[in-house]
This record gives sequence, C-alpha cells and structure tokens, in this order.
Amino acid sequence: MLIIHGGAGSKNPTGQRRIEIENSLERVIGKVTPKLLKGMSAVDAVVLAVQMLEDDPLYNAGLGSKIQSDGKIRMSAALMDGYRQKFSGCINVQNLKNPIVLAKELNSFKYRVLAEGGAEDYAASLGLPKRSPMTRAAKKLFIKQKKKFARKGKFGTVGAVALDKEGRIAAATSTGGRGFEYPHRVSDSPTVAGNFANRECGVSATGYGEQIVDAAVAASICSLVKNGVDLKTVSQKILREAVKNRAQFGFIALNRKGDYEVRTSTAHMIWAVGCKDHHTISP
Ligand code: GLY
Repeated sequence: MLIIHGGAGSKNPTGQRRIEIENSLERVIGKVTPKLLKGMSAVDAVVLAVQMLEDDPLYNAGLGSKIQSDGKIRMSAALMDGYRQKFSGCINVQNLKNPIVLAKELNSFKYRVLAEGGAEDYAASLGLPKRSPMTRAAKKLFIKQKKKFARKGKFGTVGAVALDKEGRIAAATSTGGRGFEYPHRVSDSPTVAGNFANRECGVSATGYGEQIVDAAVAASICSLVKNGVDLKTVSQKILREAVKNRAQFGFIALNRKGDYEVRTSTAHMIWAVGCKDHHTISP
C-alpha cells in the first residue's frame, strides 16, 4: 500500500489547479503502486513517489519550492527506513534536483543528516543532478508574499508512506519550507517530528513546521502504535490536541496491517492512496 500527500493548507484547490493536482497524484499512485505490488521495497517506493512530487512544480518541494525572506530557496528532505530503523536527511540545500535522493544516499552513509554546503558537497561527490528551483513562478510568488496578507495558506510539503510485500514500512518527506521565512530556518520535514517510521507504523507530516515539532507528531504516533495503541485512536488524539492548541498541521499514517489515517487540523489536505484493490484521491 502507498499513501502520498501534497500538503495541508487553508484553501481547497479549485478549478484548473484542482484538476492538475488530481492528475498529478494519480500519476504518482499509478506509477509507484504497481511497482510496489510487484515487489519494490517500501524505501524505494517512497523515494520514487517523493521524487516525482519534487519534480512537479505544483508542490512546495523540489522544483516548486518557495523562496525564503532573503531571496534564496532552501529545500529539505528526510527518509526513514522503518524496518532497519534508520533515519537520514538533508537540510537547506539550494541547488539539487532531488533532495529526497540525497536523503536516500545518506541512509547508508556514516553521517546520516547533512546540512547546507556539506550536504551539497556530498551530493556533488556522488554526482547527483543539480537544479535550481528559482523559477519565474517562485519569484512571482515571492513578490506577492512580500505583502503580508498573501503569506497565509501556503503549505505544500510532499510526503509518502509505503508498506511493501515483505511487511516493511518506510516514510519520506520533502519541503521547500513555508515561503518568506527567516533565512536558514529548518522545518519539521528533516526531523523525526515530520517524518518517522518503525516496524509497526510510518508517518509523514505537513503544515506548520514549528507546531509539528512541538507535538513530535510522526515519532509520537509511531511510538504509540509500536506500544500497542490502535492507529485510529492515536491519530484522533493527535488531531484533538492540535485543534485544542490551534496548531495547523496534518499527517498521513500507515500501519503494518495496511490501515491508514489521513488527518488535518487545517481546512484541507491533498492526499491519495494506492493498493491492490483501489486508488483513492482526496476529496
Ligand atoms: N512543514 C513544512 C514547514 O513548516 O516548513
């Protein structure tokens, strides 16, 4: 089973944008799910899914990343192999085609989380493709975001959680941040609050990074599920607390039985699920 998300926010996309998002989610689910069903590992499936989302300018990750307040784009990504219990990630890279691919390479390196210049040097040493996400669309949005009122509802982190045929779970998350934030800010995505998995559960979070970290969302959910609490009960509890604290975030979660949860305290969340019997795209 594969579950993916394209962010949580305050506006439900409508019209042409909605169609583009639905088509994009369908493309990812349609490409990765059959591979997973044929035996692709959960790790490879979440990396491929997030890589496709990073290559789609519709989302705030990879090519579609937003600009920070100093005019630079900094992207972060993380991978958690729940079976091997190994976390890896890259923080604030500027010129890399797929931050999630670097996160995957780091999963088998001695130093599994690298930031900024160090992460980019390591990516260059592996020959990973470079790409600047400084597109005309990103610059246009940056100019708009200079007006404070235009900064709301601009989430769009991407993520994926997969359960493979061997029963292994992995989670991957990638983000361009929030847009117009303080330079060098680190979001939740390359931390265990935004992305985590173990042998029982996997979670990718999206939304307001600082609030996701405050609630240690992904690690908390996985830990409670590992300790025997039902995934649905845990998800309800995390969401109740988010609402109580006026926190703005959502998450996708998947357990070893193939039960999944999608919850958000925001107005909407973009997500999709693929498995043997069906594909579901978020309403
Ligand atoms: N969850 C993405 C961020 O806060 O930057």
